[in-house]
Amino acid sequence: MSRQLDTQLLHTGSPEFDPDTGVAPVNVPTVRTSTVRFASTQAFQEVVRRKRQGERIPSYGRQGMATHYALEDAINLLEDGKHCFLAPSGVAAISLVFLALLEPGDHVLVPDSVYGPVRKLHESVLQRLGIEVEYYPPQPGAAEQRLRNDTRLLYVESPGSLLFEMQDLPALAKAAHERGVVVAADNTWGSGYLYRPLSLGVDISIVSATKYIAGHSDVLMGAVSVRNDELARRIHDTHYALGQTVGADDASLTLRGVRTMPVRLAQHERNLKALLPFLAEHRGVERLWCPAWQQDPGHALWQRDCRGANGLLSITLATDSMAAAERFVNALELFGIGFSWGGYESLVQLLAPEDLAGHSVFTQHRPVVRLHIGLEDPNDLMMDLQQAFAAAGIAQ
Ligand SMILES: Cc1ncc(COP(=O)(O)O)c(C=O)c1O
Repeated sequence: MSRQLDTQLLHTGSPEFDPDTGVAPVNVPTVRTSTVRFASTQAFQEVVRRKRQGERIPSYGRQGMATHYALEDAINLLEDGKHCFLAPSGVAAISLVFLALLEPGDHVLVPDSVYGPVRKLHESVLQRLGIEVEYYPPQPGAAEQRLRNDTRLLYVESPGSLLFEMQDLPALAKAAHERGVVVAADNTWGSGYLYRPLSLGVDISIVSATKYIAGHSDVLMGAVSVRNDELARRIHDTHYALGQTVGADDASLTLRGVRTMPVRLAQHERNLKALLPFLAEHRGVERLWCPAWQQDPGHALWQRDCRGANGLLSITLATDSMAAAERFVNALELFGIGFSWGGYESLVQLLAPEDLAGHSVFTQHRPVVRLHIGLEDPNDLMMDLQQAFAAAGIAQ
């Protein structure tokens, strides 16, 4: 019987009953071991043989144990993928994909709205390897026009992580595939639940599971999902060569997050939708950036391709004064000032001009604040925002 995704996410990895006692733990045990023992040299050789044929059997900690396998299976369910590679962070997962696919002389297209550390990957590693990175505006047709004979990878981040620009994944995948170009998407915003790039034609989906999947701001984790066996082989070889591995405790915490992600996301979305009209009407807000908002340029694509929203939005404040923007952020009581998002709590980040430098959609150059709407009561969050606008003296 095929069950709904929410049900499958709760039950995936459920340990088998002990054949002797008929008892099984509810949770997947956290298998903390760096290596395993084999009963005999024959058992050792047999495991090596079966692993060469592609079977997933524990043989050494770096390649994962049962806890890791359960998380890989859960992420495959989320992303509708066939192969999943765990990485110690979202950035490690992104780097893995670039390093697995690119060679000196290759050209890669990256959106100008890309998550900042990808620019660092370009400047500190890819440039040194002779890989050419070209940034494109995340606008319809812009990436397609820049595809070249030596383009090997079209990288997408949809929505962007600061201004939430939506990209047309099926159109991009079609154009790229006509030229034999692989498409990889950073799917951290959708976390495989709200958005499923592999089902929209993308070849590789990358997620920072640090955010909504783990969901409690207590673990760093990344994952790469693919369906294609040949791409999986290339990613596997680089994953192995780079020694990328994650601890069993972190895998276990992330798996715990998977179980409740659907209900958490639903509450983040409810809270976001309670706050959007308040913020849109507030005189302290010049513009909202959020694809779930009707007036956002990405709204139609969001409606077509996503099954919901999360707790993220940005606001351009109705002031030219960075000092007033700082007063606003400092006055907030329930929103912690910090990087990241996707945990249970509300967070705020006043974006520095350099964070938005290069974002072609950003032309107004007034202070922008990114908010992560957490699971607090939305009325409390609204009152907190209200008093912070008043304290900052923005558009009184
Ligand atoms: C869109 C996006 N991708 C990747 C990452 C990196 O994730 P991690 O912190 O797990 O390396 C982040 C983190 O903020 C992000 O916002």
